Amino acid sequence: MLIKTLEDGFVHPVPSEITPAQVYQNRRQWLQQAGMLGLAAAGLEAQAQTVRPGELPPLPAKVSGVAGAMATDTPTPYRDATTYNNFYEFGTDKLDPVRNVKNFVTSPWSVEIEGLVKKPGRINLEDLLKVSAMEERIYRMRCVEGWSMVMPWVGYSLSELIKRVEPLGSAKFVEFVTLADPKTMPYVGSRVLSWPYVEGLRMDEAMHPLTLLTFGLYGEVLPKQNGAPVRLNVPWKYGFKNAKSIVKIRFTDKQPATAWNKAAANEYGFYSNVNPNVDHPRWSQATERRIGEDGLLTKKRKTLMFNGYEAQVGQLYAGMDLTKNF
Ligand code: MTE
Repeated sequence: MLIKTLEDGFVHPVPSEITPAQVYQNRRQWLQQAGMLGLAAAGLEAQAQTVRPGELPPLPAKVSGVAGAMATDTPTPYRDATTYNNFYEFGTDKLDPVRNVKNFVTSPWSVEIEGLVKKPGRINLEDLLKVSAMEERIYRMRCVEGWSMVMPWVGYSLSELIKRVEPLGSAKFVEFVTLADPKTMPYVGSRVLSWPYVEGLRMDEAMHPLTLLTFGLYGEVLPKQNGAPVRLNVPWKYGFKNAKSIVKIRFTDKQPATAWNKAAANEYGFYSNVNPNVDHPRWSQATERRIGEDGLLTKKRKTLMFNGYEAQVGQLYAGMDLTKNF
């Protein structure tokens, strides 16, 4: 029985069936395009912990060895992770992204490297995928709105790319610029944010091994609504730092003006580290609701300092007043 036909013609069987030739051809074509056949041949596929949902082409990955990268919390169901989204280019309701991404074109794709760097230039997605071996990482994600998820991402440390492009000594920050295409993103142009959606990190944050340049979710390429084909994941920060559908990475000596900071500087600081002791001006950040654990009697969880990644990242902020640098 075939249970789903995606608009690109990808026909997906139930797991009990032998893969039909068309599916195999599509996967093979995608793998070739992505330059991944070499990786698969090297035996790096099928080592990831999570079971693939079988919705999109696979992205083979090995379990990450980076300290703190494999949270032991139960991953949020794939369906929740891919239907309860924030991606304001497609609307502000949680269901808007999955409903409105249909015309979003994520291939071909390239990322421009700019600014204070020895090797600027445009990198095609195919080449970006090959910069380092793909790792599966299970990260807790804490949204500033008070909910959280546990997501099995696929990617590699952003530091691997940064090392390749050789930033100058004067580069102190990294800016991430995302796609703003009014033709395919129906809410670009709406006044809710200034477009494009921009995020930023301090250089040492960007170089931290937990900062993930992400290409996949649940062992497969990223669904469009989750920021295909390439996004960021910084698990100790509020979710809005995780820029989706990145088209430009710029090295700069000035703190970047980020989308949410521009929209409301008193509510969304540049650092945005998860911190249960610093309230949002309009609500407490002490607890969170884990998506998938909802129910009238379900207790909220206590939010952890740096989202539980304090042992790994606390040192980055030694001596800083975190109530001022929120
Ligand atoms: N990136 C872009 N380009 N546009 C957005 O609106 N929303 C952010 C972040 N990245 C956003 C974005 C917010 S508020 C969150 S919580 C996360 O994406 C949500 O990621 P997810 O939908 O994959 O869970």
